Amino acid sequence: MEPLLRWPFFASLLFSVLISQFAPVTEAQADAAAAVREIEKASNDSLLWGPYRPNLYFGVRPRIPKSLMTGLLWARVEDFQSVQHNFRHTCEQHELDGYGWDEYDVRAGGRQTIHDPSNRIDLTTEFVKIPGGSHGGNWAVRIKGVPREDASPDLKTTVVWYAALEGLGSLEVDNEGGERLGFEEDVKLNGQTVELGNFEIKITQGEGDHPRATHPSYADKPLDRAIVHSFQLPEAALWQTKQVLFAHLKNEIDILLSKYGEDNAPPPAQVYTISNEVGRGNLHLVQKVFEGAFEFDILFSSASSPNPITSEDLTKQIRSVKKNFSSRFSKIFKPNAPFLKGRYEEFSKSLFSNLIGGIGYFYGDSRVDRSYDSAYDEDNEGFWEEAAEARGKNPAELEGPSELYTSIPSRPFFPRGFLWDEGFHLLPVIDWDVDLTLDIIKSWFNLMDENGWIGREQILGAEARSKVPEEFQVQYPHYANPPTLFMVLTAFIDKLEAESVISSSTDQEILTDKPYTMHLSSRGAALQYLRTLYPLLKRHYFWFRKTQVGDIKSYDREAFSTKEAYRWRGRTPQHILTSGLDDYPRPQPPHPGELHVDLISWMGMMTRSIKRIAITLGEEEDVAEFSGYENAIVRNIDDLHWDDKAKTYCDATIDDYEESVHVCHKGYISIFPFLVGLLPPDSPRLGDVLDLIFDPEELWSEHGIRSLSKSDEFYGTGENYWRGPIWVNMNYLAVVQLLNLAQTTGPHQTRAKKMYMELRENIVNTVYESWKETGFAWEQYNPESGKGQRTQHFTGWTSLVVKMMAMPDLRSTSRVRDEL
Ligand SMILES: *[C@@H]1O[C@H](CO)[C@@H](O)[C@H](O)[C@H]1NC(C)=O
Ligand SMILES: *[C@@H]1O[C@H](CO)[C@@H](O)[C@H](O)[C@H]1NC(C)=O
Repeated sequence: MEPLLRWPFFASLLFSVLISQFAPVTEAQADAAAAVREIEKASNDSLLWGPYRPNLYFGVRPRIPKSLMTGLLWARVEDFQSVQHNFRHTCEQHELDGYGWDEYDVRAGGRQTIHDPSNRIDLTTEFVKIPGGSHGGNWAVRIKGVPREDASPDLKTTVVWYAALEGLGSLEVDNEGGERLGFEEDVKLNGQTVELGNFEIKITQGEGDHPRATHPSYADKPLDRAIVHSFQLPEAALWQTKQVLFAHLKNEIDILLSKYGEDNAPPPAQVYTISNEVGRGNLHLVQKVFEGAFEFDILFSSASSPNPITSEDLTKQIRSVKKNFSSRFSKIFKPNAPFLKGRYEEFSKSLFSNLIGGIGYFYGDSRVDRSYDSAYDEDNEGFWEEAAEARGKNPAELEGPSELYTSIPSRPFFPRGFLWDEGFHLLPVIDWDVDLTLDIIKSWFNLMDENGWIGREQILGAEARSKVPEEFQVQYPHYANPPTLFMVLTAFIDKLEAESVISSSTDQEILTDKPYTMHLSSRGAALQYLRTLYPLLKRHYFWFRKTQVGDIKSYDREAFSTKEAYRWRGRTPQHILTSGLDDYPRPQPPHPGELHVDLISWMGMMTRSIKRIAITLGEEEDVAEFSGYENAIVRNIDDLHWDDKAKTYCDATIDDYEESVHVCHKGYISIFPFLVGLLPPDSPRLGDVLDLIFDPEELWSEHGIRSLSKSDEFYGTGENYWRGPIWVNMNYLAVVQLLNLAQTTGPHQTRAKKMYMELRENIVNTVYESWKETGFAWEQYNPESGKGQRTQHFTGWTSLVVKMMAMPDLRSTSRVRDEL
């Protein structure tokens, strides 16, 4: 469908226009065009399918709007009380003892394990893809259940796998033989859509025992075979499969009870079964009831593939995926000392796999209120009261539909795209798969409106909205969010520059790593990518400058530049949700003359990043313009935000006498210019910044750096979200900056090295210990106990520990050097 192809198509079109103007086509240009095509083909082949419904424990779909959607449900069926409660489908907090991908590669597949104590079973889903043909190849999954130790010897589990088809096309059961009493052989579905061509899906008979006949009802519906039911439903009902199943089961139960009476009711395993009724439809449920351990396969074959996939292929591929994942992982993320013993490698693989296994494809409309920003005036002194009054008065419009390919912060709690999280997510991902990362960045920038705005939370479609309270669904086009995707673009430029150093030497190893790094092996393709993205980046950048500008001139503020100052729009007395640091203490009451030190720091990072892209593209006028902004921002950070008395960076506001004053709450905000890399090693402020970080009465704890100083009056108060707890994303930024300092000659080098070693070890071990204890990564960590807290299974930016483990252990290098 069009949206999926728009960008690459546009890119290659633009490219052909460009090269035709400068005919004759040079060899380099032809190479670049060929490389762009090759990358597109590799994406077509290896990224089409995936468990791209990360809100489900297991749900495969293609990254195509309105297409085939599949999913899995299961429950223990041993008594009548627990069944309804025990049916698993969407990821939920606090119902499992850990789950997720132990190994996963978006291009090849991997293995997920699920520990389900109340169903007394552990499941694995081993998913693989086999490229080939013109429609994204074949895929398959092996679903295995193993009773847990406390299960009864004849544990009964019911498993429902389903396939639904949104949009046009057909999907039907190949129903030879199985119609009345169920399928003793493999179940086969045949399907066809424009984008997928013809395909078939086999649900194999598999292995495992089944409950035996103990009740006359068994004769009507034996449980030693698959039961299949086809539904024709309105599209809006398709994602609500569990509700559909429950409504259907209720009906079946009523029929059974009226036939046999409550006193002679069939056993639960029999009762909770769908009726056998197959045919055309847009939703097909396939149910299997097992006793004890079981295993079966789902085999998807595209008619355009050379061969249909078999269970033997799946077995072979599972082995190959595992082997390749392990060897690639140790090349890229092998933990360094002191993370060599214990379970660090397993931990690292699991966190990374859950980050990359959480990548989803989302499609649908979203709620936007485009008139709210004119319903009040952000420049009025009482703007926040007017804003509160105007809020929700306009009915938000549904916009779109749009599509988004993205990773997510948390499968149970935040299964959707978050703009500022995504920049952090992609920092490990780009080390693994550059081309995938660039695809995701492109997907985000395609969401931008004509003014340059990107909504910070992407709640696309009814399924995504079902997880979000009404008052948080609406996005406002004057609200910003930290521009973290620019950190990833910087990482890309770093890799590109490193690559040109490598390719001019003799070391060619990394160049052949297809299909993960094709944008690095073809500089032409890389430039083509940047050139196409560049106008969007500029629009976004200038949107920030215009809409989030701060006021210097009205308040007699003295600063190097009269322009470079910034203020988050959309704040309330308690929150600046747009900053990402929701409840961090800020000036009170809110004032239109406020200046926010975190935002000007983000602007500095963003300016440097876009400047480097302009340099790479040879856009000399732009380079000069961005350099001017960069210099002014760096100067103004000190002029507007450094407080000599507090010896730290502070927000600024206007007091009762109309004077500009600093409001200092020591914490992440006070060290922001440092965190985003704007303080050079010889900065006169650096010593004070390091003092603040390293002081255990302020930010330092043995579990990582606190979000708010222990000495601040608001430490640990109110919602206590960003008022003390330890966040991995900010600690990661600090570790990176400390490493830079440790590796550069300067007055603070020795101390930075010590801090780097300790902080890296502290933060990694905090996440590791909680993971060992609970089986989960967490949203944040308690600054006193180090325990994980708030959202469970937060494998978004908490996964940055994977990168930190792979960073150098400076202790050993210095020892080695000493010995030499
Ligand atoms: C990628 O897939 C689309 C849709 O199937 C197709 O139109 C396009 O030509 C493919 N691109 C390449 C390079 O194979
Ligand atoms: C594993 O790597 C080998 C060698 O690079 C490759 O031929 C094979 O296709 C890979 N297997 C999978 C499942 O990606």
